[in-house]
Amino acid sequence: MEPSYTLSRARRYEAQHRTDPAHRPVFHATPPVGWCNDPNGWSYFGGQYHLFYQYHPYSTSWGPMHWGHAVSTDLLHWQDLPCALAPDAPFDRKGCFSGGAVEWNGKHLLLYTGVMPQGEGEIQQQCLAVGDGQNYTKADAPVLPCDQQPDGCSRQDFRDPFLFRDKDALCLLVGGRGADGNGRLLLYRNPRPDDPAAPWTFVQVLAENDGRLGGMWECPGLFTLEGRTVLLLSPQFVRQTPDDRYHNGNDTAVLIGRWDGPGTPFRRQADAPLDCGLDFYAPQTLKTPDGRRVLIGWLQNWDHCYPPPGASWYGQMTLPRELFWQGETLCQRPVAELDAARQLRVAYQDVPVHEEPVILPQVRGRVLDCELRVRLDRARRFGMRFACGNGRWTELRLDLEDGVLRIDRRHAGGFRDGMELRETPLIALDGVLELRMVLDRYSAEFFLQGGRQVASLALYDTPADADGIEFFARGQASLDLRLWDLAL
Ligand code: FRU
Repeated sequence: MEPSYTLSRARRYEAQHRTDPAHRPVFHATPPVGWCNDPNGWSYFGGQYHLFYQYHPYSTSWGPMHWGHAVSTDLLHWQDLPCALAPDAPFDRKGCFSGGAVEWNGKHLLLYTGVMPQGEGEIQQQCLAVGDGQNYTKADAPVLPCDQQPDGCSRQDFRDPFLFRDKDALCLLVGGRGADGNGRLLLYRNPRPDDPAAPWTFVQVLAENDGRLGGMWECPGLFTLEGRTVLLLSPQFVRQTPDDRYHNGNDTAVLIGRWDGPGTPFRRQADAPLDCGLDFYAPQTLKTPDGRRVLIGWLQNWDHCYPPPGASWYGQMTLPRELFWQGETLCQRPVAELDAARQLRVAYQDVPVHEEPVILPQVRGRVLDCELRVRLDRARRFGMRFACGNGRWTELRLDLEDGVLRIDRRHAGGFRDGMELRETPLIALDGVLELRMVLDRYSAEFFLQGGRQVASLALYDTPADADGIEFFARGQASLDLRLWDLAL
């Protein structure tokens, strides 16, 4: 089928306005031009990883949502493909919102939320598009209309279907809101495996908000890793929890439990935040051909969207991260493909760190991978500043007496007041900090204690030549460090 006028226009626009790679991250996915939010349709199909994303090519702010598209064979090099979906059907006129993808009988199925006007407001329904990895044809009507929900559910908040297979059947998990206003995850099943466009049937409410974690639950996900089932959610309107583990606004959580499949209850055992940095939302996961569960998220916070003046793109994805367990904790580490690209630049051992900043030869840069091992036995505080220069810096600090991890971007060069400082409970360290830091021009990602605690932040306001790194302590610490360039 010929692409519609709206889709052709988006494709033409992005082809003509593609940003010079020198002004994009080296190995983090971004839109070629314009705005992006949530990763969508994160899947492996036709020998490639497919990343779609919420996309507005025409400006660096949110607008009528399209699905942008990029592919990769190594999760580090991203090739832009033409825009995949545009809001060009009567049922998605107000936007093609987030959703998932799966390979099905040799085809790539996309399921997304179509937003359309109704009365004074809008409704959200789940819609299907089928394609070959580049061009997608929409079904004629939503496959899951908004009135196919239990009584009292919201028709306006019914979005972000996550698509998965359960044996021979296709299933979807979608975010909704019950009569009490609280978020819930609804599970549906396709009764006709030969026809994903046939109406889907409601199976169960898989999880419900107990009122503690925000309102609406956006962008659900589901996977089983070594016997434990994990539900991913991105709650809106969270209020900082008394233990400070969850923060105000849009946060991200995993519910960990046991589940025996559609129709059986999800037995929730624990919950945990996924990232305690300043910028992280709406993650999705996929399974790689070699069996790894890999997560990617939007490296941004809805309450801190200030594109730098003159920027041609805004919004980026996190590094793809492998998920694994350490005991009961769901941990994250950069994909192994990044390790393979490392080239050792410099290594240090037993460097004493006190109050005075320690600056080490060759330890600098904005595109790098670095690992620290810090003995903290006589330290009450340890920290580092990075992206330093011309009076700018960003700081990661561990206040060991209070058990607080502190991320401070107030001096990075922005002129907005808000979302520049986060303090979260620090995980137990047992006297030794293991910290991995990955920098890629416009972002920093930190993995503590082998990925038991993770923190991400975007860095749009610090010029590229602010590339200094320094360490400091209160009391005394001793530092081993290895720093790698990345051959990409
Ligand atoms: C989450 C979200 C989704 C929605 C999309 C719209 O960030 O609000 O719920 O589908 O963004 O762009």
